[in-house]
Amino acid sequence: MQFHATKAGSAGQKTACAIIGIHENAVMTAAARALDRAAGGAVSRLLKRGDFSGKSGETLPVIATRRGPAERLLLVGLGPRGTYGRKAYRRAIFAATQWLAKGGAANAVSYLAGEPVPGLDPYYAARHAVESVSNALYRTPDLKTAKKPPLAKLTRFGIAVPVADLEAARRGIDHGRGIAAGGALSRDLANLPANVCTPTYLAGAAKGLAKEHKSVGVRVLDVREIRRLKMGSFLSVTRGSDEPPQLIVLEYQGGTKDDAPVALVGKGITFDTGGISLKQPPGMDEMKFDMSGAASVFGTIKALATIGAPVNVVGIVPTCENMPSGRATKPGDIVTSMSGKTIEVLNTDAEGRLILCDGITFARRFKPRAVVDIATLTGACVIALGAHYSGLFSPDAKLADALAAAGERADDRAWRMPVAEEYAELLKSNFADMANVAGREAGAITAACFLWRFTDGLRWAHLDIAGSAYLTGSHKGSTGRPVPLLVDWLLHGA
Ligand code: BES
Ligand code: MN
Ligand code: ZN
Repeated sequence: MQFHATKAGSAGQKTACAIIGIHENAVMTAAARALDRAAGGAVSRLLKRGDFSGKSGETLPVIATRRGPAERLLLVGLGPRGTYGRKAYRRAIFAATQWLAKGGAANAVSYLAGEPVPGLDPYYAARHAVESVSNALYRTPDLKTAKKPPLAKLTRFGIAVPVADLEAARRGIDHGRGIAAGGALSRDLANLPANVCTPTYLAGAAKGLAKEHKSVGVRVLDVREIRRLKMGSFLSVTRGSDEPPQLIVLEYQGGTKDDAPVALVGKGITFDTGGISLKQPPGMDEMKFDMSGAASVFGTIKALATIGAPVNVVGIVPTCENMPSGRATKPGDIVTSMSGKTIEVLNTDAEGRLILCDGITFARRFKPRAVVDIATLTGACVIALGAHYSGLFSPDAKLADALAAAGERADDRAWRMPVAEEYAELLKSNFADMANVAGREAGAITAACFLWRFTDGLRWAHLDIAGSAYLTGSHKGSTGRPVPLLVDWLLHGA
């Protein structure tokens, strides 16, 4: 898809489809009025007859007359004027694109940002438009054998803005394109079944990413090198699996050589059965998404490389399966992490923290200015926040605020939860430095506090994306989150 910014009000150029916004109770936006006039009043006649109410996400095509800048007008509902903002704007563009995807228009121009969208500057209006169009056109790589519906004819999408906003809109389009590419990569990887997307497959994908972008370097460490690093905690998780584990290191260099990097550590459990602490069968298939943190690291680096963002980022992905077997780690086993701290594994299903603590310790080698880990870490986080907000944990208020603000701007929100000694104490063990689980209470927080124990002297934050990384039910599939949040934060200087 090609995106471009264009001047609103330059009625000269003909487009196959102009997308225009209508508020609830058939209230026309200024852009709609202008296009209606150009089309000889086709829209106002329709609205007068009550054919379109302007409910959020509603769409109605109007075949325009010979006059005017468009062959078709696509009316799209913006909802009540009083509550109009980012959400309704994104939904309108998503709905418009869904309609376009089914039709024959090869190009379209959105006039929704031809006037200010409350809460969005021209840069974000353009960026969110690109992301919404891309999300609406995203198709999961599936293995269905039935004939696929033809691909959308739509290949060019214009974003009309006032002349003064052209430059900001172009930057927004540029960044939106990168975020969309990164989000799609993240979704593709996470949506793949675990018999395809193995740790070895992820290592191959990392190498592919490095091949595609000159600014990205990659190193993959195999089990022998992981042993040499003394990652006893990571290795305890992979023991039961026949698939070899991998430690993937991606380096994006967009800044100067001696800029300290930001380290992103992603949980890469390609399937989580729970191990000997075996999970219940219902919904276990969704544990193929347990590498969503890893996928978001790949996606973020893809986005940064596409944009050419001026930062250095190192992505660290410990990846393996969590399986039961005769060799698998047993409840009560004690392992030694790379940091030297010993861990009593009371529950083999709390495996994410076991691979991440070694990933965080490994990150120290890069002298990072900040470390953010991203993980589908706890079911407790899903209970606390559901699917809408990711859990955000950091003892550093400034870092937490910066990430939360990035999530807000990127429409990929995260809510801060506590990290505190009182919770960390619940991880006491009689036999080792710490246990890998506490009780049922505050499960997302005690998991974060487990990781906290490995971050002395680091500027660190943890994102629990167990609820936000993928949807369940009839819309089952990866969301590509939190790529938009992370990219926004990194573009703002982290
Ligand atoms: N991958 C799961 C967390 C998870 C659960 C993600 C549901 C998405 C949806 C993680 O490895 C896990 O099993 N966590 C346990 C921790 C418990 C044993 C302390 C959990 O949340 O039940
Ligand atoms: Mn688990
Ligand atoms: Zn897991």
